[in-house]
Amino acid sequence: MKSVAVDKSKYGPWALVAGASDGVGAAFAEAIARNGINVVLLARRAEILNQVAESIQGRTGAETRVLVTDLSAPDATESIVAATADVEIGLVVYCAGGDADFAPFLENSITASERMLQRNCLIPMQLSHHYGRAMVQRGRGGIVILSSGAAFVGAPNMAAYGATKAFDMIFAEALWAELRDQGVDALGVVLGETDTPSLRRLRGERGLAGPDEPVPGATAVEEVVSAAFKSLGKDPTCMAGKQIRRGARLISPIPRGVLVRLMVRMSRRAMGSDDKSAR
Ligand SMILES: NC(=O)c1ccc[n+]([C@@H]2O[C@H](COP(=O)([O-])OP(=O)(O)OC[C@H]3O[C@@H](n4cnc5c(N)ncnc54)[C@H](OP(=O)(O)O)[C@@H]3O)[C@@H](O)[C@H]2O)c1
Repeated sequence: MKSVAVDKSKYGPWALVAGASDGVGAAFAEAIARNGINVVLLARRAEILNQVAESIQGRTGAETRVLVTDLSAPDATESIVAATADVEIGLVVYCAGGDADFAPFLENSITASERMLQRNCLIPMQLSHHYGRAMVQRGRGGIVILSSGAAFVGAPNMAAYGATKAFDMIFAEALWAELRDQGVDALGVVLGETDTPSLRRLRGERGLAGPDEPVPGATAVEEVVSAAFKSLGKDPTCMAGKQIRRGARLISPIPRGVLVRLMVRMSRRAMGSDDKSAR
């Protein structure tokens, strides 16, 4: 993997990567560890997660900790907070969030959509609140939340998924606006088709490709990670990969970073400054 600079003094000593057993999350964990930041790796499949953690630790020398947790379970935040209480989390990267079903809303169970809402919205919001407060107290840290082009516009088979991804993108942008003056960087990373095991599996199941066949034209996970760390600390949103940048320009010729900054100014004009002493 090409080296990606991640500032240990700003985002260390520990990072939490949710959805770290494969795909984008595993690539984030590796890049972070290569910069000497220890990593808590979270996912459901214990065996694979342990293998990923061991190989990252072996290659990078960074410490790893494995957290086998289902992010769609109601007590997920409580158990994550308890399992990380003894370490200082300076960076949260929330990757878990793909939709393995890709089914029409009414044909799928309501439980499946509720679990997605829990995993994609409620848990990242709770974790951002918990770790974000500690980061603000320290005056440093970062929160990275993965979103999708599905956030831009509604589409069939992605009703609940696209809506949760819109939540993720807007939530991350708003955190960027609120926290940037307090030393904490938030970033929404918006992905187009990215070559991950999850996408390969889905394409295989739909008869579009053989099992574990690479996705033609899709962005590589390393490119996503590299784009994210180039944007973290600067922009509210990162369009990770050529494909999604092209798509984003079609939806709006004005980059989201410009729109968010404009919204910050408009909101201050309409509602006044957040600095109470300035009112
Ligand atoms: N790949 C794409 O083309 C694409 C496109 C647009 C957006 N995105 C976004 O990019 C992010 C990463 O996508 P991805 O393709 O790498 O695959 P993904 O299926 O979202 O993520 C895979 C990782 O998340 C973990 N995970 C999934 N559900 C979990 C749960 N309930 N609890 C704990 N861990 C869970 C998986 O591990 P376990 O199975 O071991 O739990 C695995 O480590 C997602 O947020 C997705 O929405 C991806």
